[in-house]
Amino acid sequence: MNILLLGSGGREHAFAWKLAQSRICTQLFIAPGNSGTATCGTNVSLDPLDFPAVAAFVRTAEIGMVVVGPEEPLVRGIWDFFQADPELAQIPFIGPSQAGAVLEGSKAWAKAFMQRHKIPTAAYRKFDGTQLAEAKAYLATHALPIVLKADGLAAGKGVIICESHAQAQTELEEMLGGKFGTAGATVVVEQFLSGIEFSVFALTDGKNYKILPEAKDYKRIGEGDTGLNTGGMGAVSPVPFATESVWEKVESRIIKPSIKGLRKEKIPYCGFVFFGLIMVDEDPYVIEYNCRMGDPETEVVLPRLKNDLGALLLSCARGQLARTRIRTDKRAATTIFLVSGGYPGDYAKGKLISGLDKVKGSLVFHAGAKNDDQGQTLTSGGRVLAVTSFGKTFPDALKRSRNNAKKIQYEGKYFRKDIGKDLERYL
Ligand code: AMP
Ligand code: GLY
Repeated sequence: MNILLLGSGGREHAFAWKLAQSRICTQLFIAPGNSGTATCGTNVSLDPLDFPAVAAFVRTAEIGMVVVGPEEPLVRGIWDFFQADPELAQIPFIGPSQAGAVLEGSKAWAKAFMQRHKIPTAAYRKFDGTQLAEAKAYLATHALPIVLKADGLAAGKGVIICESHAQAQTELEEMLGGKFGTAGATVVVEQFLSGIEFSVFALTDGKNYKILPEAKDYKRIGEGDTGLNTGGMGAVSPVPFATESVWEKVESRIIKPSIKGLRKEKIPYCGFVFFGLIMVDEDPYVIEYNCRMGDPETEVVLPRLKNDLGALLLSCARGQLARTRIRTDKRAATTIFLVSGGYPGDYAKGKLISGLDKVKGSLVFHAGAKNDDQGQTLTSGGRVLAVTSFGKTFPDALKRSRNNAKKIQYEGKYFRKDIGKDLERYL
């Protein structure tokens, strides 16, 4: 069948790479894609948020399955748009309903959902613009640090960890005052949890679920997890502290009640659930849900997945996930992101990328990269390329990623050399 994948980042290149290997895939289309996805299928110049245009393409290209990479089309209701048309509603579709995507689209909703289903998460209160005085009084007695979260999608910038009460008061006023537009019209004030974070993924057909390999991502720009937050500077899978006893708790306390909760609340959900977790001593807590796979986690999770991804997703869309079994490569996979100088602040675009042909023994997933008219590959975003490698252990894999990262050149290239360092103590 023909498959349409929506998105244009490193996550989507990893999906495209894996889907292109599927026995069920005749033609793969990626909208809008990037220079990497162009090597796996056909890029289509379509905006994933233009639902009528996506639907028209699905009809003309005789698409047999739609796979949604990023959250925004889901949060805006692309699944519901397809469901509203009797013909399009028949097409296997990977991505939850708008009601399901609200797990990511509204942090306040996600917190209430977790409370309803007794899923461990930080204590919280939510406030809107009409409650400013009440919110400020609440903050004044709150233990430090204070975590403030804009309720809606804020491009990864909506979480602020405040080290003083004064900072919290100012941030709260700015958020409620429109700093993040409507995303900050409601603010969640949360208890600060201290521990090590990791990411867990489930694929669900709404009833059954399958757990994919876990990963740890590295969000900060600087070595030693310092500096500003980014879209992700690297990732490691598996996570050495995710032992059997940790997994038992994660599944019974978090994954199972989450999937059951969605079903109980009659929320249509066929797709990925991303659980952003933190270990507080020996216990896992949910920091956030996402309604899609992670980036850069996908760049290490999918390479470790031995299943035919097209067949797996199709069985999910058909509600037959119970019949499948996830098979995982036992080796470690790591990825290191090459970013543009200045990122996550201002950075230049259009820099010529060279040395991709010198890479040996790693996969290079393109994110902020595009081809020009002459077929040269240029930087086009902050996070440019993800260099993914396998190894017997994660330090072996990281060494390979680092060696290949050095062979790729473009003006302003930067990457973290300490990805995975914090995990060495678990070896
Ligand atoms: P989010 O956008 O929800 O993923 O939050 C971004 C980051 O903020 C998380 O990855 C955590 O590192 C941090 N964070 C969010 N909530 C908390 C919390 N309650 N306690 C400690 N850190 C948090
Ligand atoms: N790596 C975190 C995310 O995809 O949101």
